[in-house]
Amino acid sequence: MEDKGCSREEVLSFLAGLRAEDLHHDHILSSMCTIPHPIAVAVHEMFSATNLGDPGLYPGTTKVEDLLIHSLGELMHLPDAGGYSTSGGTESNLQAIRIAKKLKPEAKKPNIVVPASAHFSFDKTCDMLGLEMRIVPYGTNYTVDTEKMAEMVDKNTIAVAAVAGTTEYGMIDDVPAVARIAEEQDCFCHVDAAFGGFVIPFLENPPLFDFAVPGVDSISLDPHKMGLATIPCGSLLLRDPEVFGCLNVDTPYLTVKKQCTLAGTRPGADVAGAYAVIKHLGREGFRALVAGCMENTRRLVAGMEACGYCRVVDPIMNVAAFTGGDAPAGWTVSHTRAGHLRFVIMPHVTRDVIECFLADVAAMQA
Ligand SMILES: Cc1ncc(COP(=O)(O)O)c(C=O)c1O
Repeated sequence: MEDKGCSREEVLSFLAGLRAEDLHHDHILSSMCTIPHPIAVAVHEMFSATNLGDPGLYPGTTKVEDLLIHSLGELMHLPDAGGYSTSGGTESNLQAIRIAKKLKPEAKKPNIVVPASAHFSFDKTCDMLGLEMRIVPYGTNYTVDTEKMAEMVDKNTIAVAAVAGTTEYGMIDDVPAVARIAEEQDCFCHVDAAFGGFVIPFLENPPLFDFAVPGVDSISLDPHKMGLATIPCGSLLLRDPEVFGCLNVDTPYLTVKKQCTLAGTRPGADVAGAYAVIKHLGREGFRALVAGCMENTRRLVAGMEACGYCRVVDPIMNVAAFTGGDAPAGWTVSHTRAGHLRFVIMPHVTRDVIECFLADVAAMQA
């Protein structure tokens, strides 16, 4: 830090220069985040000074968090679900597994059993909590092989996880089958719907993946992905709100006596922004948003196949993967662990962007 500060103009101009170095959204084809909705940005600023970590100081903002959690619970078929807003899917997955560990203290060498598709946040979780991570191979269509999963659980299994909207292929595990395994083994069942939670409910004929499935104990669901919220905004939902109590620590000098969240200070700005988007768009708005992303995904698949790429799966969400070749220069795509070219067709990946990209693919091959 320098001794003397700079003018506002100087600071803003310096930062604008660095911001200009960032890639433009219209060439980012593999991110699970997108441009936040303008109402989220406006509300974010309105709530920028709030801290949900000390709720007694911000009763209004705390009510907004309650409203957000209630809306997300409704979306997941359990309006009375407990929950709080996290920094994203990583924290939600970590906290869910922390809870699972607390609930099964008798597990001497605790393990969790997760699909091969599991996000790397589970690796971090196991590292932090000292857990063995058992990885279940893929069965059909890049979803978890539930027969193998049933064979891999044992009395030391504290949790099984299913992914509803896998990071790499956008697939949805057989959540009812995973929940049955958890019930049989008497362990916790966590559904990672960090990405899919804002997509699957708005698809035509969505599969069961949420609290409508008996035995699902917790769900990760991120407004900062397909919920168009400002970053960072995730959420962890629990079927039984009381269970959060197992994470409580005493907080003697705050306006509340106990805290179960991972972070102490927590932003209210992104939470209020996320709620604003939900209130503003409603189910109708999200249905239209998801329908648009799906239409664009289908266009991308058709265009890529016309250029000789092969789809790896039939997309059921707005994620597509292909074998064969690379993407043209200037476009950001990613690769799955198996080396497939991976796209996430977020709302910023419009039809025009896709046509432009496909034209570059065709030119690259000419
Ligand atoms: C299925 C899934 N779970 C968890 C995460 C981690 O979310 P975050 O990066 O918000 O911590 C991601 C990120 O893409 C994800 O796709």
